[in-house]
Amino acid sequence: MANEKQFTYWNEVAGPKWVKVGDEMDSRFTAITDLLVTQADVKPGERVLDIGCGMGPTTFCFADKAGPEGHVTGIDISTPMLNVARQRGAGIPRLDFLLADAQTFQFDAAKFNVLASRFGVMFFGDPVAAFTNLRAALVPGGRVCFVCWATLDENPHWNIPFQLVAQRLGYPEERPARAPGPMAFADAGYVAEILTRAGYSDIAVTPTPVPIIGKNLTEEAQIACLLGPSGALTDEKQADEATRQILREEISTALAQFDGPHGIKLPATVNVVTATNR
Ligand SMILES: C[S@@+](CC[C@H](N)C(=O)[O-])C[C@H]1O[C@@H](n2cnc3c(N)ncnc32)[C@H](O)[C@@H]1O
Repeated sequence: MANEKQFTYWNEVAGPKWVKVGDEMDSRFTAITDLLVTQADVKPGERVLDIGCGMGPTTFCFADKAGPEGHVTGIDISTPMLNVARQRGAGIPRLDFLLADAQTFQFDAAKFNVLASRFGVMFFGDPVAAFTNLRAALVPGGRVCFVCWATLDENPHWNIPFQLVAQRLGYPEERPARAPGPMAFADAGYVAEILTRAGYSDIAVTPTPVPIIGKNLTEEAQIACLLGPSGALTDEKQADEATRQILREEISTALAQFDGPHGIKLPATVNVVTATNR
């Protein structure tokens, strides 16, 4: 299997965590979803593939845009996340969910008008192979539009908790630069190179500031200790519950600077990536 480690990770570790906080993540990512849906500009009647669709938040948005004549497929390797997506999407006719690896799945040729993703394409062991495989599923002239995280420095919502965890528990074991993970596509030039090598045209990678809207500091600190670079480091260092509690308190205090009268607004930057199959 091409992405065996990620398969295990998204089925046994990260998937169950995302299922726990799925609703919170969706409300935090509202502005990012709006940005993606606007940029993808799915037209009525179009066929869309949502890559690494998770529990389907963006898949449902694309289905709305594609309308009754269109169709949307969400593909993902995580059974727990797809189970939620299927429950949520039950009864919607122009939608299906596929449990498969987007890097290697043999799609019907030229099946989709649009390949889209919110944070679902940074986990391929061989990104060029994955995007080459995906391009074969695009009609000539078809479009790619996805968002991925820019650098850690441009994402204080991850970086502040990550630095606090690292100060207390140490930095992560060294791993290859750009190893599959949430920050693997942070370098705009690297993403453009992947898409060029995979045969796409009209490639644009645009770092775009966008807020993450949090509900309260307690929830933000919980999410930071669960997911992303800070959550992964907390797990890697096998922090016990007492240490996690201290970290949650430290993170909550550090993020208080972003708490305002209208809730928490954390600064973030995503790379908006667009390309065509010409
Ligand atoms: C950070 S989550 C994002 C989920 C969803 N797009 C969202 O924004 O809520 C990344 C998703 O990519 C999926 N994924 C990772 N590697 C994949 C692969 N090779 N093929 C398909 N999905 C993959 C994971 O299972 C996970 O659901």
